[in-house]
Amino acid sequence: MNASQEPDRAALFALRNRLLGPLRNRFLTTDQLCEAGRLMCGRPEGLSLYGIPAPEMEARGLRILGRTAVECTKDPHPATVAGAIAEIEATTPEADGEAMVVDLFCGSGNFGHHLGRRLRRPVYASELDPIVHEAGRRNLDRVGSAVDLRLADYRDLLDALPARSERDVYIVEPSWGPAFTPDGLDLTRTSPPVPEIIENIRRSRDCVPCLVVIETSDRVVHGSLEFSFGNAIHLRTLVPEPFPPHRTGSHFHLYRLGE
Ligand SMILES: C[S@@+](CC[C@H](N)C(=O)[O-])C[C@H]1O[C@@H](n2cnc3c(N)ncnc32)[C@H](O)[C@@H]1O
Repeated sequence: MNASQEPDRAALFALRNRLLGPLRNRFLTTDQLCEAGRLMCGRPEGLSLYGIPAPEMEARGLRILGRTAVECTKDPHPATVAGAIAEIEATTPEADGEAMVVDLFCGSGNFGHHLGRRLRRPVYASELDPIVHEAGRRNLDRVGSAVDLRLADYRDLLDALPARSERDVYIVEPSWGPAFTPDGLDLTRTSPPVPEIIENIRRSRDCVPCLVVIETSDRVVHGSLEFSFGNAIHLRTLVPEPFPPHRTGSHFHLYRLGE
């Protein structure tokens, strides 16, 4: 990194601390959303959810919490993942039953929203935090989304949704918190830990296979990705172009959970 990038990097971390601290449960103003877009994604419009860029969010009735601006899966990543799933399915035999998308840690709901639309599937989602749930519900209504979002622990959603098809897709995006350090991301330390989530998905499906997608940082430590997925089959890892200021970016891993 050259010296001219240092101020932006310092500003990025200062912003993250504010969004996850004092602004955590506050709705961001247009100025704050644009600043978040510029520092996290290189330009104000780079921060986009439900297809709506930061400068237009407030005017179009979206209300984005500070924590959600940091934690959300930003456009265009869900569309990239949907494209990969469609490609995978094009090369595998048809499956019985109407497949669903299950967004277990919904947050903004942006991931499930796009996946459901692109794959033309019903989406069921859970969010445990009442403030995040309320904001997510409101925003999804605002953009005319059909996501069925419940204020619930992800395990209750799993209990309520037995397997429908071998093409069911589960989005696994728990909060990283202290699992994410400068060394990388340890998936055994997320909240809840990923190995536990995968085991609960498996159990809820009573041996019917499915597809799981998980987002990580570009560095996962302690072999925790392989450990979390055990004998599941790794299908693909997608590495979208990182947002300009970071030099690091999200990876999306697709796994088939078997019997
Ligand atoms: C990393 S964020 C998800 C981001 C999401 N993919 C998006 O695009 O906004 C994780 C979310 O999971 C929620 N959460 C944490 N524990 C949960 C649980 N046990 N069940 C359901 N939701 C939970 C948190 O409140 C947080 O909103």
